[in-house]
Amino acid sequence: MKTITKVSELKEAVKAAKAEGKTIGLVPTMGALHDGHLSLIRRAKEENDFVVVSVFVNPIQFNNKEDLAKYPRTVDADCEKLASVGADVAFVPTVEEMYPEPVKETYHFGPLEEVMEGPQRPGHFSGVAVVVRRLFDLAEPNRAYFGEKDYQQLAIIRNLVEQIHYPLEIVACPIVRADDGLALSSRNMRLSPAARAIAPTIYDTLSQAAEMAEYEEVDEVKEWVMSTLASFHEVNPDQCPDGLKFEPEYFEIVNARTLQPIEDWDEAGDDGAVGCIAVWLNGVRLIDVVKF
Ligand code: PAF
Repeated sequence: MKTITKVSELKEAVKAAKAEGKTIGLVPTMGALHDGHLSLIRRAKEENDFVVVSVFVNPIQFNNKEDLAKYPRTVDADCEKLASVGADVAFVPTVEEMYPEPVKETYHFGPLEEVMEGPQRPGHFSGVAVVVRRLFDLAEPNRAYFGEKDYQQLAIIRNLVEQIHYPLEIVACPIVRADDGLALSSRNMRLSPAARAIAPTIYDTLSQAAEMAEYEEVDEVKEWVMSTLASFHEVNPDQCPDGLKFEPEYFEIVNARTLQPIEDWDEAGDDGAVGCIAVWLNGVRLIDVVKF
């Protein structure tokens, strides 16, 4: 595996691969790689001849300076993992290399960004779109791989590809979970042991919500999920030392394609419905998704 830090070198590597008739798979990441990322890379390896993985903590998608400063950075370990799963290129640019000029472009996604993460993180999706488009320009992939945990991001990126008319396939990969159900995330490593021990409650609650959806109305399921998590520390004080508690930011049940909130299960029609949640735990923001 080649580790590349310069845009010019990445372009050369891509040009050489294309000259040999190779197809290119791109896996954009912000590093702190876990098995979820590795599953995307394995899939990219299966479906392409040449796999580029970017490792870049993209500052312009963070609307909270503290979150950016605390984002885990483990580049050496990341490169070892990438080599072990057979990535061809690890692209690890500096911020100056990615953004030699101040970024002026912005992207808009209409109703897709007016829900869930959008209002909570102003400018976030535009920042994601800027970096993803740059990576598309540099790596010229036939396919790009994204995880379904960032469900709204996936819809935004599909929309971006339509806006910029790029001839590439966006491949959505299923959430990878720890044995106890917690969705794998680079942020999990910031959880204290007590927080990590109760974090699977998010998945347990979503799984129960999926069962409730058989017989309860949308609003009731939403309220139940929010109140179950918000009151967890009161019901289980022994598991919540030192003021540890879940602070759910949102739980929204939406049409799986349009991401617009539904009030009735039938409204989702053939698209189906998904529930997306963001929860603060121990100063760490965790997200997860359930399909209904
Ligand atoms: O999902 C992520 O890790 C990031 O948002 C992405 C797509 C790599 C862009 O920085």
